[in-house]
Amino acid sequence: MTPSITVVPTSPFADQRPGTSGLRKRTTVFQQPHYLENFVQALLDIAAIAPGQALVVGGDGRFLNREAIGTIVRMAAGNGITHVVVGRGGLLSTPAASHLIRQGAAGGIILSASHNPGGADGDFGIKYNTANGGPAPESFTNKVAERAAALTEYRVAELPAFDLDAVGVQDFGYLKLEVVDPVAAYAALMETLFDFGAIRALIAGGFRLRFDAMHAITGPYAVEILERRLGAPVGTVINGTPLPDFGGGHPDPNLTYAHDLVEELFGDNAPDFGAASDGDGDRNMILGQRFFVTPSDSLAVLAANATLVPAYRGGLAGVARSMPTSAAVDVVAERLGIPCFETPTGWKFFGNLLDAGRITLCGEESFGTGSNHVREKDGLWAVLFWLNVVAARGESVEQIVRAHWAEYGRNYYTRYDYEGVPTEAANSVMAHLRSQLASLPGQVLGGRVVKAADDFSYTDPVDGSVSAKQGLRILFADGTRIVFRLSGTGTEGTTIRAYFETIVVDRKHAEYPVDSTLAEVIKLGLELSQIASYTLRATPTVIV
Ligand code: G1P
Ligand code: ZN
Repeated sequence: MTPSITVVPTSPFADQRPGTSGLRKRTTVFQQPHYLENFVQALLDIAAIAPGQALVVGGDGRFLNREAIGTIVRMAAGNGITHVVVGRGGLLSTPAASHLIRQGAAGGIILSASHNPGGADGDFGIKYNTANGGPAPESFTNKVAERAAALTEYRVAELPAFDLDAVGVQDFGYLKLEVVDPVAAYAALMETLFDFGAIRALIAGGFRLRFDAMHAITGPYAVEILERRLGAPVGTVINGTPLPDFGGGHPDPNLTYAHDLVEELFGDNAPDFGAASDGDGDRNMILGQRFFVTPSDSLAVLAANATLVPAYRGGLAGVARSMPTSAAVDVVAERLGIPCFETPTGWKFFGNLLDAGRITLCGEESFGTGSNHVREKDGLWAVLFWLNVVAARGESVEQIVRAHWAEYGRNYYTRYDYEGVPTEAANSVMAHLRSQLASLPGQVLGGRVVKAADDFSYTDPVDGSVSAKQGLRILFADGTRIVFRLSGTGTEGTTIRAYFETIVVDRKHAEYPVDSTLAEVIKLGLELSQIASYTLRATPTVIV
């Protein structure tokens, strides 16, 4: 049996080049006739999924999610794909999609713009993950961009009506459409990794937690895992109903946007533990009672305590962090005698290392932490990891982090974002800084000796591929670092990210205020880049 297929003539769009994490644009851009279809056709052409192989499709439920999934199902059939697996209602968190793909699919299409706001005036996005469950590598996305730039037609099958809300298989002969419970397989995976018994006992013993799903995808996952399986009281999960516009909020789990959670955890009668996740469920923020855990520290603490968790009891093969992430985890790796890799920004760069078994844990400063259990960062996984560590150590989040600083020293860290800068001005900042790099090594700046300065280039140790121009770095002999790079996920103008880090190894002094400890380094970075004069911005839009 074959479906009736319409071949639709089209012409390419000039801007269909995937960035740090897929193609991300304003929703209105995706609503242009043929826009989504063109990109999906380019993805399917490069993915070349053979008959019999499965394609997983799901998204974070934002505005346009359901319609886009309908289109993708019809286009999959139009391109000879015979098996499509969809999360019920078109919903799948990014880590859950990664897990489903790893259970035997050829790849998956994930609809999300992650932590960017959704809705008709928000953002939308689409990306492809390969059979290992991870974001397609640059070699793939470059081909997709080339293909999209030359596209002349796309193929859509005419399917009978199908139901995305009915779990089960709808078999059209040429297409098996399998609708699955989005939570079940993921929740089962979590039970294999963590000591649910210990976490359940912790909660039963009165440990109070709060999880803010920010009206995004993790609500149903968190309710099932935290409330149903681990026994946390009903209401532990707040903002738990996924909404197409995330309730008008900005679903980014940080101190600025997760305000309901932050208010509670820093208020009177605060719970013992707070966490939040982003639009598509891959980011996490961890809070203790009146205490914020920086993502870079979180990665280091999890690495140092990994053997307390059943899945990692045998130890870690290695760890990795993105280049701008603080080197706190490097210190732990050195102590453990395991390798620590420094990759460019974006989860796709961890894929080869995970596949090759060279690393077990990895993370980014941008609230992303994960392991070899899937090939995406994973918000709820990080929450469960922390709860497992808290249960095993019998200490509070704050005690655990302070003990970590006392033992390993502390990497003071902050990030300045300048959002929506005109692209030309942003490029000028980078060019100005780049032009000075060669002359910096050996100079003493602000009392610190510059050890090296470069435009970060990464050679993948597994396949030898080279990714150049991944961020400008100024590295000092004492471990202090200043990094500037341009964001690859924005949809309006250009976002400049500036990262500042310094290390205090003197363990007695690991509790200075972050602002004053980094003040000199920040001043130096701002002066060297001349960012204020090029962008006419006296201050960043966001400080993390
Ligand atoms: C940002 C983060 C990066 C993360 C990506 C996707 O990318 O900085 O660490 O992998 O979002 O969540 P950027 O906008 O900096 O390119
Ligand atoms: Zn995300």
